Amino acid sequence: MNREFKESSNQWTSLGATDPLWAVLSDPEKKGGKWNLEEFLATGDADIERFSRLIERHSALRRPFGDILDFGCGVGRLSLAWSKQARSVTGVDVASTMIDRAREVLSGRPNATVRLNTEPNLAQFPTESFDVVASHITLQHVPPEAALMYIREFARITRPGGVTAFQIVTGRKPGDWKGHLADRLPWLATLHHRIALGFRVYVTSESLIRAAMQELEMVLLSVETDEFAGEVATSRTFLFAKPGTGPGK
Ligand SMILES: C[S@@+](CC[C@H](N)C(=O)[O-])C[C@H]1O[C@@H](n2cnc3c(N)ncnc32)[C@H](O)[C@@H]1O
Repeated sequence: MNREFKESSNQWTSLGATDPLWAVLSDPEKKGGKWNLEEFLATGDADIERFSRLIERHSALRRPFGDILDFGCGVGRLSLAWSKQARSVTGVDVASTMIDRAREVLSGRPNATVRLNTEPNLAQFPTESFDVVASHITLQHVPPEAALMYIREFARITRPGGVTAFQIVTGRKPGDWKGHLADRLPWLATLHHRIALGFRVYVTSESLIRAAMQELEMVLLSVETDEFAGEVATSRTFLFAKPGTGPGK
């Protein structure tokens, strides 16, 4: 896992240095630094509204939420939106280049901080330290073994009564021949992405996600299929709760 994990982390660091906004939201028309920053950041509010509604629909948590971890924060698009809905938000990312941009984006938000994390774990965060651990369009870019380790870490750092909500890719559609080939010949995929400076989409098994969370006594509140991985892959957003007394109770 280590080599693939490092390769993927390096790729994101390069993408963060060359075209960070496009790497986060890959609209072909915005490639080459064509995103307008304000327009780009405004898209975060809609994504966080969706997460917030999901949490409020299925759990006892209500806005403003307590302390949030935004895993894979990129340039801070969603951390900025979360900072308007919560007491505090901590953005964490594997790419120092992304973190540098996120610091600028979040400079006017005193309740937002960012952390670099280059390990396939979240050991820098204490157990039960967040009310909400959220992740969007990130785990789909993490090799599955590491993705499962992070998901276990989400469970560990969630407070009793809190939730973790994350989007991830759980399958490929039959027509995604490039993806199927990449799964069989990972070295070829690595070479291709290194040359093309693109990013990979990995599949993590839904049954392994469910089994890992069940083992950690997390309760599945909801799982929704969505379109965040485009037309070639099956993307799902999971919401798990950690049993216990909620914040302020
Ligand atoms: C498509 S971007 C999404 C950023 C942000 N979630 C958003 O929606 O604006 C994916 C982000 O995941 C980060 N990432 C990739 N692997 C990661 C890892 N192992 N740990 C933390 N972040 C990671 C990348 O550096 C990149 O910033």
